[in-house]
Amino acid sequence: MEKIIILDFGSQTTQLIGRRVRELNMFCEIVPYNKFPQNDPDVIGVILSGSPLSCYADDAFHIDFDMIRGKYPILGICYGAQLMAHTFGGKVEPEGTREYGRANLEFMDENPLLKGFAPNSQVWMSHGDTITRLPEGFHVIASTSTVKYAAYAADSEKIWGVQYHPEVFHSIDGTLLLKNFVVDICGGHQDWSPAVFVDQTVKEIREQVGDDKVILGLSGGVDSSVAAVLLNKAIGDHLTCIFVNNGLLRKNEFSDVLRDYECLGLNVVGVDASQKFYSELAGVHEPERKRKIIGAGFIDVFEAEAKKIEGARFLAQGTIYPDRIESLNITGKVIKSHHNVGGLPEKMGLKLCEPLKWLFKDEVRRVGRSLGMPEHLITRHPFPGPGLAVRILGDITPEKVRILQDADDIFIKGLREWKTKLSGEEARRVLQAGVPADMKDGEIEVSLYDQIWQAGAILLSDVKSVGVMGDERTYENPVALRAVTSADAMTADWAKLPYEFLAEVSNKIIRNVKGVNRVCYDISSKPPATIEWE
Ligand code: XMP
Repeated sequence: MEKIIILDFGSQTTQLIGRRVRELNMFCEIVPYNKFPQNDPDVIGVILSGSPLSCYADDAFHIDFDMIRGKYPILGICYGAQLMAHTFGGKVEPEGTREYGRANLEFMDENPLLKGFAPNSQVWMSHGDTITRLPEGFHVIASTSTVKYAAYAADSEKIWGVQYHPEVFHSIDGTLLLKNFVVDICGGHQDWSPAVFVDQTVKEIREQVGDDKVILGLSGGVDSSVAAVLLNKAIGDHLTCIFVNNGLLRKNEFSDVLRDYECLGLNVVGVDASQKFYSELAGVHEPERKRKIIGAGFIDVFEAEAKKIEGARFLAQGTIYPDRIESLNITGKVIKSHHNVGGLPEKMGLKLCEPLKWLFKDEVRRVGRSLGMPEHLITRHPFPGPGLAVRILGDITPEKVRILQDADDIFIKGLREWKTKLSGEEARRVLQAGVPADMKDGEIEVSLYDQIWQAGAILLSDVKSVGVMGDERTYENPVALRAVTSADAMTADWAKLPYEFLAEVSNKIIRNVKGVNRVCYDISSKPPATIEWE
């Protein structure tokens, strides 16, 4: 399948470039800058990402341009553009002040890369260096009021550079620029779609698995659920799913999700192991110990159930592309993060099957929709594996879990029911994140739940405060509410929920949840805080 290669020089927005290209129904792979796949006949173009580094510094990342120059069309973004200018004989220098934020383009020249752009098209700048001289054989195609070489092109080669970030949503014609490059310049056919993915993956799963049996641990989350439905389509009842209740799920989640899975036709075994987890967690306060107990407990239960399934040779996981991308840190070391059930396949002598391993999160959702899955399963917020255990500060008891489930349920239901109208950039941000909403008169109506990345309640079970209910003094626990916006959970901001909404939820919780007499809203961003409290 034809593909675009994105060489990663360590920018925070490299993954976004990949997502935008995929949104154009073009397959692409992100690889570290020094791992260009030289013998891959499917490559039709190369994009060089941004970087926090300076291309003239000693520690700069360089590549051998002979591998790509003259062989593929090349688009450099920020660092990528500067690296080419620097390497090909131009000049890049530090800028007095860092160029950061919105700017508007002025066009010097008609150029296929900028075809269809609005006059003065808004772009998003973020760089500390700037190109002060273009190499011979290159010319400027757009400037901003402060950046002379905002976009450049080679006179007679297929090379372009832009010193802004077309991949971020503040760059209004950013997706158009990527489309111009990928489709018009590289000749991409835009034939990567959820339906094509499903057909192709179903075939691949059948080839990989043959007549063997597959087991899959369901978490209730989007990734494992979509993986299960896809596998079910490929191999039917040769797939057995195991859904473990660790007693730390949301209110009614075990029964609701189990019912959803059964309606989807999945062969699913629900195991209620709540008591095992409660007894192992009794008296444990320390967050990392809680995590270890829950992780080990899950493996015990899963292994015991899996052993009952005769002939199982494969363990399927909902691993997605961002879990596998080798992201660069500034020292140039490659960090590999892979956070699914570590060690389980080796321990059980099973081979791995990861049907979603090439997909970004929003693509997983599109695939889920094309498989006919219900919207509430597809748009679910992320939920941590250790569940409510890391949202009860202190030791865990069934009573505390019940209190937190009730408070959390009021909060989450409220977020789903409360809708607000969005327009302009806010609406574009939400739509670009994959929320299905219809634009009417330039506005969309979206629930608060769909506007945020993740939310939940936290029980401060070691803290008590005084309150008054009717004529009675109360001395009970506070609940904190947490809701954040984020693109990838690496950074997050607290969601600016409407005061009226917070007031309503607070009243409901204090009136209805026995054991809680105070509600606080967490206004910390990540960093320096984290999303979860433990
Ligand atoms: P933090 O708290 O690190 O969370 O900002 C980032 C994202 O990861 C989730 N999270 C976990 N997920 N096991 C998981 O499967 C865990 O132990 C865990 N801890 C945090 C968190 O919900 C957020 O989406």
